[in-house]
Amino acid sequence: MDAKEQGLRWLQENLMYIDSVTIVDNSGRIIAKQRFNPRYAREENRTHSKLALGKNLLEVFPSLSPEESTLLQVLSTGKIVYLENQAVWNDQGKKTVCNNLNFPLIYRGKIVGAVELSRDITNMDAQVSPAAVQLSPPPPRNTTARYTLDDIIADTPQMLQLKQTILKVANSHSSVMICGETGTGKELFASALHNASYRKGKAFVAVNCAALPENILEGLLFGSCKGAFTGAENRKGLIQEADGGTLYLDEINSMPLNLQAKILRVLQEKQVMPLGSATPISVDVRVISSSNRSLEELLNCGELRADLLYRLNTVTLTIPPLKKRTQDIPLLVNYFLHKHSQMLGRNCPKLTDDALQFLMGCRWHGNVRELEHTIEAALNILGEQENTISLEQLPAYLTIQDPPEVFEEPLVPEVSLTEAMAQYEKKLLTQAMAVSHGRIVDAAKRLKIPRTTLQYKLEKYCLIGK
Ligand SMILES: Nc1ncnc2c1ncn2[C@@H]1O[C@H](COP(=O)(O)OP(=O)(O)OP(=O)(O)O)[C@@H](O)[C@H]1O
Ligand SMILES: [Mg+2]
Repeated sequence: MDAKEQGLRWLQENLMYIDSVTIVDNSGRIIAKQRFNPRYAREENRTHSKLALGKNLLEVFPSLSPEESTLLQVLSTGKIVYLENQAVWNDQGKKTVCNNLNFPLIYRGKIVGAVELSRDITNMDAQVSPAAVQLSPPPPRNTTARYTLDDIIADTPQMLQLKQTILKVANSHSSVMICGETGTGKELFASALHNASYRKGKAFVAVNCAALPENILEGLLFGSCKGAFTGAENRKGLIQEADGGTLYLDEINSMPLNLQAKILRVLQEKQVMPLGSATPISVDVRVISSSNRSLEELLNCGELRADLLYRLNTVTLTIPPLKKRTQDIPLLVNYFLHKHSQMLGRNCPKLTDDALQFLMGCRWHGNVRELEHTIEAALNILGEQENTISLEQLPAYLTIQDPPEVFEEPLVPEVSLTEAMAQYEKKLLTQAMAVSHGRIVDAAKRLKIPRTTLQYKLEKYCLIGK
């Protein structure tokens, strides 16, 4: 079920239990808030709503990071978000746990705001006394880097070389740019680089530049002083929080151009000026940035200011997509099998040769992250006592490599072209049949050929009995 279906179903079942409605404009400012929870006194409901009005969402709920706020996610993606058990602390330190349905307000094709319908389930958790719930402090923002170089599992020369480069540049002041498709491990690399450097005892602050509207991202990075804008409080910016440590600017190419100019100034002057303040604050921050586009693409597409790019990419680490380093797959599979078996508290199974061969031929649009999810999913459907994962346990949606790959890495260069093509065709047919669990009609659809043609070819290559 996708978020939309889940949300609509939730609405049908919970309409009569909705405790509050919050509406924000496209900058995240609360423009309407109404609580009608009968468990609170009428006056309490009214005061709470009134105090929040006109303030930025993150001011009212300081425990919430911009990435965690479902309303802000809706503002940046335009998609419905449904989340259960979201715990937030308001500016008076009071915790509530809610099930939330968030959807965008769209006018003439533009996102003008977002609405959140909440069901307050705080006191339904019988384990926690209401008093304890209300007094517990907000959780601090996570500013530690989780991974080290040892967590980067790699076997191919390019990847081992990248690990060496990390070691070499770890203690320099140079900015590092990490390029790679989604899920190739950019944040893992950034975290390992931070932990390999003398900055490892200090903060590692990661910010996703694509997830937030411009003004929120600006306030978040630079901080603000009371009165800088409606509802602004004294708030330390993330650049300042990363002082002495590392600031990881994820998806830097999605940062609005205006803000890029301000980041450039921070890099040049090593100072940050909070919004509404006239006093610059000195900071010592190492910037690691990431992009899912290559350097050439970045220069050509105009998303990133060239002067900022030259500041950011003193060292560039380009992580190849997984399909270009299939030699890493057996090691990664093994690593994820152990990791997830341990988490599930079960024995660690093995993969059959067929299954491993199949995984090595997949396209992996989502790269290592997709491979990890595939292994995790296979482990979940494997019986407690089963010791092997075979093709049947692998999801049917995995796709096989694009045909051009074979021309970059010839399968069997020493045979004739006709023979090489026949071998490649046989390999594609075998994989299509495997992911379709032997159903010829499905396999034919995947290969985009008539069923009868597939039948003929399968017989020709003796892949099925005549
Ligand atoms: N070489 C690797 N060894 C072990 N785990 C890896 C490796 N590469 C990626 N991973 C794991 O894959 C997942 C995705 O990695 P990460 O979040 O660093 O990717 P990313 O490039 O930042 O993705 P995105 O562009 O989507 O933000 C993480 O769980 C990470 O630990
Ligand atoms: Mg990332």
